[in-house]
Amino acid sequence: MTSEPARGPVDATTTNAWGSLTELSKNLRPDLRGWFAADPDRAQRLSYQAADLHVDLSKNLLTDEVLATLVALADEVRLTERRDAMFAGEHINVTEDRAVLHTALRRPSDEPLTVDGQDITADVADELAKVYAFAEKVRSGEWTGVTGEPVRTIVNIGIGGSDLGPVMAYEALEPYVQDGLDVRFVSNIDPTDVAQKTADLDPTTTLFIVASKTFGTLETLTNARLARDWLWRSLVAAGAIEDSEDGRSDAVAKHFVAVSTALDKVAAFGIDPENAFGFWDWVGGRYSVDSAIGTSLAVAIGPDAFAELLGGFHAMDEHFRTAPLEHNVPVLMGLLNVWYVNFRDAHTHAVLPYAQQLHRFPAYLQQLTMESNGKSVRWDGTPVTSDTGEVFWGEPGTNGQHAFYQLIHQGTRTIPADFIAVANPAYPLRDGEADVHGLFLANFFAQTKALAFGKTADEVRAEGVAEDLVTAKVFSGNRPTTSILAPALTPAVLGQLVALYEHITFVQGVVWGIDSFDQWGVELGKKLALEIAPAVAGDEAALAAQDPSTAALIAKYRELRA
Ligand code: F6P
Repeated sequence: MTSEPARGPVDATTTNAWGSLTELSKNLRPDLRGWFAADPDRAQRLSYQAADLHVDLSKNLLTDEVLATLVALADEVRLTERRDAMFAGEHINVTEDRAVLHTALRRPSDEPLTVDGQDITADVADELAKVYAFAEKVRSGEWTGVTGEPVRTIVNIGIGGSDLGPVMAYEALEPYVQDGLDVRFVSNIDPTDVAQKTADLDPTTTLFIVASKTFGTLETLTNARLARDWLWRSLVAAGAIEDSEDGRSDAVAKHFVAVSTALDKVAAFGIDPENAFGFWDWVGGRYSVDSAIGTSLAVAIGPDAFAELLGGFHAMDEHFRTAPLEHNVPVLMGLLNVWYVNFRDAHTHAVLPYAQQLHRFPAYLQQLTMESNGKSVRWDGTPVTSDTGEVFWGEPGTNGQHAFYQLIHQGTRTIPADFIAVANPAYPLRDGEADVHGLFLANFFAQTKALAFGKTADEVRAEGVAEDLVTAKVFSGNRPTTSILAPALTPAVLGQLVALYEHITFVQGVVWGIDSFDQWGVELGKKLALEIAPAVAGDEAALAAQDPSTAALIAKYRELRA
């Protein structure tokens, strides 16, 4: 039976707050220089604490009135009602008729939560205990391959949420990875990915984790078969197994485990369900890094650090669940994004980590935000009434400074940007006397300052610049940024950061009235790829069935393919 959320979406554009925001935006003359001059407390007033994260919103194009009206908008669209429905396990993923309970993955195990008649807290704790026991076995060397060697390399095979979260977190928490263990990630169905990632591997010390919520994803299953073939071939070549049915199944048993919600399909692939870790349909792929999908990470950093990561997630969940809206960081950041998208014509949003370990964070956020909020219909099937999902993108500072910051500083578009940094680096190197991390963060502060306050024509002239070059050297300023600072990139802080963006995404989805937890938009391409594959492989009838452009491209590919 479909469990309907209590009420349908509110059309945000019909609210009083939306009307007021439209007026406020029309009359807004952004003036960060003037605003800071007139209000010395602005930085203080517009800075917030959420768990370990210090979040400074003061360099945004925001007045007190705008902020209060955004909060009023949250009230009018019944944000807290929907938030509470999510935490309670109501089926707010309407188009898939599912609860949305990634927050349950990180709840303390002594706080039961019954959903659809099932105490899911106990289920989560049991599965986590299984993942932790496996992680300890691999880390201690108790888990061995066919020749009795311990595991040295784990290859996670997955895509989308079954890849981006684990790889992002593995890179971010690299200083916590056990010495002698290495994790690699295969995702692309381009055979280059498997070929390159296995090229220098010793099969006797390699363990594959096939991670797929559905265990039906073409890329992942194809890559898993390629990896299995590689394993068999290389173990036979090394004399480690017999080239026989028994040899091959022993190899799979000792070198393959799986993570999925579809344990029957795992068994059909040949992986013993004993060596499989489950999760539930109420965990969306892009919200699953803290489920068993994070098994590769749990092995790499160990159960204690993984538990700390979950604690960080939970701390941000609690902030989101309980802090008053006007001090609630995910709420304010989500509303600010709405402000920029719907009232200030922003089309994109940059995320700029000043922490090399977060170099995959923007890619991770792309799936989280764009697969969630790239929608044109609301959760009741009616068309959206405003623009939705902005494009998220980014690269770590300072690399981005020497690539695309020009456009952020002097281009014609408004690009809100989140700058993220930690105070204590994992590698506190010195260049002679100089603390290199300090120099690094000087860039963070300099960029946000330049974007906010710019440089006037008079200031340029005062530097003696020739008149015909003045305009080229002017910086308009009033380019919005949010600064996020944490003490260090610990597992807890990473959990807080990820949960922060999960909830920001949720807040935007509620304002727009959309189901942020389905992803029907990826289905058509998947289906067509399967239909087109025979044409690519040489089936003339399948080729003739294609539209002229696609048919011509396939024909060209076949002509070029040696
Ligand atoms: O791209 C669509 C999608 O369903 C994502 O939402 C998901 O993270 C990814 O494919 C992988 O799916 P699975 O974990 O089922 O292999």
